[in-house]
Amino acid sequence: MFTKRTVSTLAALVALGASSSAMAETFSFGEKAQQAKAMVVFQAGEQASADLSRLDKLSNNQISNALNAAKFEGKSKQVVEIFAPAGINTQRLLVVGLGDASTLDAGQVNHVGASINAKLAKAEAANVQIFTQGISDNTSNANFAAELAHGINLRAYKFDKYLSKKKPSEKNYNFSVAKPELATAAYEQLEAIESGVFLARDLTSEVPTEMNPAHFAAAAKELKDLGVKIKILKPKQIKKLGMGALHAVGRGSSEGSRLIVAHWKGSDDAPIALVGKGITFDSGGYNVKTGSSIANMKSDMAGAAAVLGTVKAMALQKAPVNVVAVMGMAANMVSESSYAPGDVLMTAEGKSVEILNTDAEGRLVLADSLWYARKHYSPKVMVDVATLTGSKIRAIGNRYTAVFSEDDELVSQLTNSGKIVDEKLWRLPLAYGDLLKSPIADLKNAGYGGPGATTAAMFLKEFTGDTKWAHLDIAGNALIKTDKGLTQSGGTGHGVRLLSHWILNTQVK
Ligand code: BES
Ligand code: MN
Ligand code: ZN
Repeated sequence: MFTKRTVSTLAALVALGASSSAMAETFSFGEKAQQAKAMVVFQAGEQASADLSRLDKLSNNQISNALNAAKFEGKSKQVVEIFAPAGINTQRLLVVGLGDASTLDAGQVNHVGASINAKLAKAEAANVQIFTQGISDNTSNANFAAELAHGINLRAYKFDKYLSKKKPSEKNYNFSVAKPELATAAYEQLEAIESGVFLARDLTSEVPTEMNPAHFAAAAKELKDLGVKIKILKPKQIKKLGMGALHAVGRGSSEGSRLIVAHWKGSDDAPIALVGKGITFDSGGYNVKTGSSIANMKSDMAGAAAVLGTVKAMALQKAPVNVVAVMGMAANMVSESSYAPGDVLMTAEGKSVEILNTDAEGRLVLADSLWYARKHYSPKVMVDVATLTGSKIRAIGNRYTAVFSEDDELVSQLTNSGKIVDEKLWRLPLAYGDLLKSPIADLKNAGYGGPGATTAAMFLKEFTGDTKWAHLDIAGNALIKTDKGLTQSGGTGHGVRLLSHWILNTQVK
């Protein structure tokens, strides 16, 4: 039997002064089933699996009778829970429908795992037996089991630092699989990605007073132990390098801005640059946010969290890839020293920007961060991730991420990865650049009305030179209010799985 304990993000959390919220379930993969107080068995379509038939026999057909009564047909998302079935020493048995399993991709299997975890959340059983012998997704039995474990753990995570009542105790899941070593190896890679997701969630869920640019920098430094090179520029250096836009956005808060670089150099290829928007709180500045959405603005650093989490995922699995994350960090606050509407800022790129709206701050920190990534790392491709616009949410909602790029191949690679891990992308146009003309500066930071997600993307494009680039607007994807799918309420870590999949599948030969 192969046992694997999940990597906890405890080290990072110590730096934040937090207790671990990344709860680790334990997983083991073996050839045989084990005795357990909760059991899970699958049916892909109408044909019962061998394990299900065997259990049914033991129960003297009680299981099939229950399934018939529930009109269970093995369809995807059908679940029947049977308590204390006769002849089987278990308190509950979940029979889970998969539909046509051979068409399931990783993200769909993760969702099956998540729903199992959600169903069993209140069950007292410490040990859970999952019968996966003979079941394969569109790749293999080993991957099916590993992706199930991944989905279970993603859903099990809860940011419970501020709750006096913590989540119920951890569970041990045992999977019966044909080839335990293969399942264990497959899960190891997913476990690294999980750990990156958990870091991103921790950072996103943390409250704004405890997660300013300096706190975020401290969390980034924790990755040094994994062999990640960390560089942190403070306001003075930011100003000295001419990054006047990044500098200005942080001026209204006492910590000021930071530019953080986290570099995992696992190969000698030209690097992939991931650039993240890191607004640790977005009050809107003098264009102060008046609606209730201001309460979600602790999550305005989710782009930075996603790119840092991705670097962690690569470092933990020692991936043979060269990835550098550049994060533009600031708290967009109101004070006497804040930047003001009407200001003209100078970016490091040499383009001046008239400020029409201090709430369009993300593009300002990204402008200088994109410049820095290009200038200092000559990346072969750049992808930025940002909770950039409310306009994106109005256009396509929170079940899709908007992707902007002129490179069709890059869009199709990212879209494909998004489909597989179920972080879906939808392409929006790069156009309407004329709306950013200013009479007093080279650009203005906001158009009047119009297609806001697109004009924001056009603004960013001004700072990408001739580097291949895509922009992901994850507004609405970063924080959820109620438990759903792979995530309990709180930060989602959105982007880590997408970027990890994209990097590992396009860069590793
Ligand atoms: N951080 C917000 C965008 C946002 C809104 C993210 C809601 C997640 C949920 C961004 O800084 C912002 O305020 N954008 C403005 C830009 C406008 C002033 C041009 C927007 O989209 O309204
Ligand atoms: Mn804003
Ligand atoms: Zn913002």
